[in-house]
Amino acid sequence: MALLDGKMACVLGVANRWSIATAIARALHQHGASLILTYEGERTQGEVEKLARELGDAPTTACEVSKDESIGSLREFIAGRGLAVDALVHSLAFARKEELSGKYFATSRSGFSLALDISAYSLAALCRELQPVFAPQASVMAMTYLGSVRAVTNYNVMGVAKAALESSIRYLANDMGELNGVRVNAISAGPIKTASARAVGDFTRILAQVAEKAPLRRNAVAEDVGNAAVFLASGLSSAITGQILYVDAGYNIMGIV
Ligand SMILES: NC(=O)c1ccc[n+]([C@@H]2O[C@H](COP(=O)([O-])OP(=O)(O)OC[C@H]3O[C@@H](n4cnc5c(N)ncnc54)[C@H](O)[C@@H]3O)[C@@H](O)[C@H]2O)c1
Repeated sequence: MALLDGKMACVLGVANRWSIATAIARALHQHGASLILTYEGERTQGEVEKLARELGDAPTTACEVSKDESIGSLREFIAGRGLAVDALVHSLAFARKEELSGKYFATSRSGFSLALDISAYSLAALCRELQPVFAPQASVMAMTYLGSVRAVTNYNVMGVAKAALESSIRYLANDMGELNGVRVNAISAGPIKTASARAVGDFTRILAQVAEKAPLRRNAVAEDVGNAAVFLASGLSSAITGQILYVDAGYNIMGIV
């Protein structure tokens, strides 16, 4: 029997084959979970449907997380099929490209709101709106990055959004744990070449620095994150909540090298 047999995971954040959400969906499926995949809009719908066909003909639907109605539609989509969510994967973020280089203090007021709304507030909105369709002891996970707790050149407003996301993890863990034992954690992934990552100025320099200085002398890859997601979705992580789990080849522990 596979680790996630009988569990249903709803995965948000597939854009293409390089997305971290794609690796997570594949890993969850490989370990026996059934899936619901969501897409942000028409631009990514085709890719998501293609992946869904590969992964057991998973149902797909739109979810634009800046709109409560869209999150509500996701809830109705799940409830309408008589399903319950055992694992919710929040693998999405957004900041305007011009806010991801240069000085952090140049961040516009609207760019700050947009980044925080999509990248951090959305997790609270999802936990609230999907509450009726969570299975008891469900596992919620979001993706974060070291730029939340360290100043990483060019990461700027996204670092501030990730700090808000990580703080939300702790508040939501407390809210959701009390309700029906739902756990809420984040995976802090090392840099991985994806469409979103390419928007960060000088991203290849970050990749090179981690490969040189991380204890494992390599970068984490999306499959490493998928493995950690399987652990967090499974009963093997049953008393773990409110935590930030680093999947970064150990880079975060290093001081001067
Ligand atoms: N790639 C990295 O180096 C890295 C490192 C650590 C954490 N992360 C985080 O991993 C997550 C996934 O990013 P990725 O690197 O796979 O990039 P990606 O570009 O493949 O995925 C980002 C996803 O966010 C979705 N999205 C953006 N705005 C949305 C909205 N309003 N509604 C719904 N969906 C929306 C996009 O459709 C896309 O699927 C993000 O939270 C990112 O910050 C990435």
